[in-house]
Amino acid sequence: MDVPSPMAQADPAFRDDVLAGLAAPIPAIPARWFYDLRGSELFEQITQLPEYYPTRTETALLEAHCRDVAAITGIGDAVIEFGSGSSTKTPILLEAVKPSAYVPIDISGEFLRASAAALQTRFPDLPIHPVEADFMRPIALPEAVRDKSKLGFFPGSTIGNMVPRTAVDLLRAMRDTLGAGAWLLIGMDRIKDPEMLVAAYDDAQGVTAAFNLNLLRRINAELGGDIDLDAWRHMARWNDAKARIEMHLEAARDTSFTVAGHSFSFRAGETIHTENSHKYGERDARLLLLAAGWGVERQWTDTEDCFAILLAKAEAERFAP
Ligand code: TRP
Repeated sequence: MDVPSPMAQADPAFRDDVLAGLAAPIPAIPARWFYDLRGSELFEQITQLPEYYPTRTETALLEAHCRDVAAITGIGDAVIEFGSGSSTKTPILLEAVKPSAYVPIDISGEFLRASAAALQTRFPDLPIHPVEADFMRPIALPEAVRDKSKLGFFPGSTIGNMVPRTAVDLLRAMRDTLGAGAWLLIGMDRIKDPEMLVAAYDDAQGVTAAFNLNLLRRINAELGGDIDLDAWRHMARWNDAKARIEMHLEAARDTSFTVAGHSFSFRAGETIHTENSHKYGERDARLLLLAAGWGVERQWTDTEDCFAILLAKAEAERFAP
């Protein structure tokens, strides 16, 4: 037949992740699948919620301290951003550091080109060299910046969305990409009152709940699922032993459904784990970076110590203590 089935465009990687994740002993779906168009819009709204302090706190920290970053690292070299640089944070850093080149790295080429074009309008004289790549692995940087000194930029507490082991792998890959002597400016969320943490991931307006539940809507739409959305609720909890906020989808009652012809049953109270957001104290942050070869030179925090931006330097490999 010529008529494409409604699932013809389903991403096979999405299907594989969902089927494997739902059948796992601890059901979990990788967070990257949150970000379809609707998910990305909802995430944008999350960053503006009154309960969601990280975005505004980090932005204020960058506004207050990027000049210090420039003074320590030196002006005029290459800024390498891990992520597409679509946020309002990138211009703050670029204004202060005045680099001679900017390299955004992102796995989504479409996103990358759109945000590079937007930045180019704002910084017409800045050479921008977008790199479409998975930054979890070391990357060969463009020829044009190879001999420049480098400042990596990784805001948004995105490092917290990885378990520590993966976070160290990523920070090591960044160190390999940037080379010895490079700098890294990274945002990390602090451990704090669990009530304040949970509120940031379970807001009164229900935007984060809609964001989490959108994953089930997406499974129904793209993978031919028949999940009853009313049988599920958003849950955010603080896991103190692992120092992280966990987001789950929790079955409100016993419920069964099919996805792409596979059947699944959940009992009331069982969950699908959808996101982690690890929080780091001052020493935790320093140790995480050290474990990946980064020595922290400065940490800046707000007066409430809610959020931190850290400036670290890639240490030379050592042969002995
Ligand atoms: N890294 C940010 C954080 O952990 C943003 C984020 C990623 C987020 N996934 C999320 C925020 C899910 C809310 C819900 O806070």
